[in-house]
Amino acid sequence: MVDTSVAKQLVQAIIDNLPAPVGPRRPVHTIGIGVKGEFVASNVARNYCIAEQFQGQPVPASVRFSNGLGGPDQHDGWSDVRGMATRFHISDGKGSDLIATTLGEFFVRNVDDFFKFTEIAKLAPYSRLSWWQKLCDLVKLKVPDRDPYLNETENVNAGALRYANQHRFAQLGVFQAAVIGAPVSYARASYHAVHTFWVTAPNGVRRPVRFSWQPVAGVCNTDPMAVPQDKYLFKELDERLKKWPARFMLMMTIGEAGDAIDDCTKPWPGTRLRISMGTLTLLKVSEDQEADGERISFNPNRLAPGIEPSADPILEARLGAYEASREIRGGCPFKWSKVDAG
Ligand code: HEM
Repeated sequence: MVDTSVAKQLVQAIIDNLPAPVGPRRPVHTIGIGVKGEFVASNVARNYCIAEQFQGQPVPASVRFSNGLGGPDQHDGWSDVRGMATRFHISDGKGSDLIATTLGEFFVRNVDDFFKFTEIAKLAPYSRLSWWQKLCDLVKLKVPDRDPYLNETENVNAGALRYANQHRFAQLGVFQAAVIGAPVSYARASYHAVHTFWVTAPNGVRRPVRFSWQPVAGVCNTDPMAVPQDKYLFKELDERLKKWPARFMLMMTIGEAGDAIDDCTKPWPGTRLRISMGTLTLLKVSEDQEADGERISFNPNRLAPGIEPSADPILEARLGAYEASREIRGGCPFKWSKVDAG
């Protein structure tokens, strides 16, 4: 059952942490670009999952790439988590969504953690350390803070690191985010859906799985020592796709006994079986960014029959939170609900 008051509070907690109002736009992942593409499943995919997008016929896809930070300003070159939200347009007309980011694991386990995180991880003024403060740090064998980027007056990492120092489960996600850097292209990063989903095979076997997108062009970040550029990711993607399509492989990792099913802060061992489920080919930047970028509304619980959410409390909370955010910003309606699914 979706608790709409908690969903609204989750969205409000995010809005309260914004550096500046965003108007009728997403309060996180505000800056993004809609792209058109097509997904074709691999030959083995249908042996593992009966969902329509894994049966082998080409399935049209809408993708929105985004910068993780909430706020009206576009800082492409800043170190920041990036998002890749994909809708597989299957024949039921509702679609099946997969939302992923460049973080391998999330930093909170449930809604209570999320509220505490947003209380501690507030933006803090960011100032440049003097040379002697840096020297003192080095003498103490401590790596001094980097200089703020141009226009970077508020630090997003300090509060998150404080939270991680107090909560061990948050450390993997927060430390990854702190050093994540900026990709040279949205098409040159790998993206992870972090939660566990249950997929059903044609013989009825249900398996716990986690999904990731791997870029065929390889992962590549900008030079962390160079001055970050502001707006290059949209133009780069447009120019790239005008020359040649960009491809991502959808990898599905199968969980085993003892793996964390309902906790997206916990990684699975790297030795788990990974199945290549298919290839997403990005064809062009959408001409209608209002419909395919700004108004489109994804939800990690919008799933084709054959894929079910796990009981991960964060995944469950996102059902209502994304819907509440969609209502605030006037996104396209998300009609699915647990009640409809019956
Ligand atoms: C309790 C935890 C979370 C909350 C409250 C939350 C909240 C939100 C909200 C309110 C939005 C804007 C939705 C819209 O207006 O359409 C959003 C977008 C997004 N979130 Fe989350 N989120 C959470 C966890 C996660 C996790 C675990 C991931 C990792 C996969 C994630 C990835 C994204 C991405 C990629 C977008 C942009 C989607 C788009 O382009 O439409 N979020 N989140």
